[in-house]
Amino acid sequence: MDQIKIFSPASVANVSCGFDVLGFCLDKIGDEMQVKMTDKPGIEIGEIKGQKLPKDPLKNVASIAVQSMLDDYPFKNGFKIDIDKKIKPGSGIGSSAASAAGAVFAVNELLGKPFSKKELIKYAMAGEAFASGVPHADNLAPVLLGGFTLVRDNKNLDVISLPSPPDLMVTIIHPKIELKTIHSRSILKKNIPLNKAVQQWGNLGAFVSALYTNDYDLLSRSIEDKVIEPIRSMLIPKYQEVKKIVLESGALGCGISGSGPSIFALSKGKLNAKKVGDAMEIVYKSIDLEFDIHYSQINKNGIKII
Ligand code: HSE
Repeated sequence: MDQIKIFSPASVANVSCGFDVLGFCLDKIGDEMQVKMTDKPGIEIGEIKGQKLPKDPLKNVASIAVQSMLDDYPFKNGFKIDIDKKIKPGSGIGSSAASAAGAVFAVNELLGKPFSKKELIKYAMAGEAFASGVPHADNLAPVLLGGFTLVRDNKNLDVISLPSPPDLMVTIIHPKIELKTIHSRSILKKNIPLNKAVQQWGNLGAFVSALYTNDYDLLSRSIEDKVIEPIRSMLIPKYQEVKKIVLESGALGCGISGSGPSIFALSKGKLNAKKVGDAMEIVYKSIDLEFDIHYSQINKNGIKII
């Protein structure tokens, strides 16, 4: 096999209670990437459709991630990466993670799978770190492993796959503004008061427990963010209105997807997710702000070959 085409999905990081550690993988929304082995050594970024992204291999997250992998696994051939970029950069649903994870996944397949999916997280992180300034795996892990994941330790990459309750549905709305992760990280406080930390780890522990026990009520009570949301929500148009109407419409919970501006809501069942989406739309239509809306199950498989 000297070429491969893959689908690299979008993802939701943080999930309110797990800043930089919790995430899940989305279905249907994602990039397509084609990677070819070339005779010429080195990594080339070929065609990029959909978005304007750098073609310089030293500035593109996909090639940066692959290069970090080849530094550990030198190979005589090179690779050409074509990207059909469907996830908008700066939308908050793991655009850079999809590129970085997709590229290392594809090259690993072409090399005969020298690395496990878990091992690939480390290499994909080189691309993610370039994009956001800080290495974190909360988008990458669910894209590579599927489902919900918890990163116990971002430095030594201790990553745990978590179960997904069967009826869990996601609604995501992206108000069409671009928020760079590097910017929405720069406004965060470096320290948090002890009482807020206590609430946050209580919620995170309960959320994980709810995933194992399919306890939708506990899940709902745990989708709370006392630390990051109060700061970042100021960057998102009509955030409080969207959240209010979403919760009134019966969502289990609602929060900022990754570093925003997308807003996610979790619901039990497809009908509820649709109701929640209709409510979200009302808010942005009322101010004539363009948006994209997506509905998804939890994607338990992550990246796939197409
Ligand atoms: N955990 C990251 C953040 C996700 O919130 O900054 C976005 O890369």
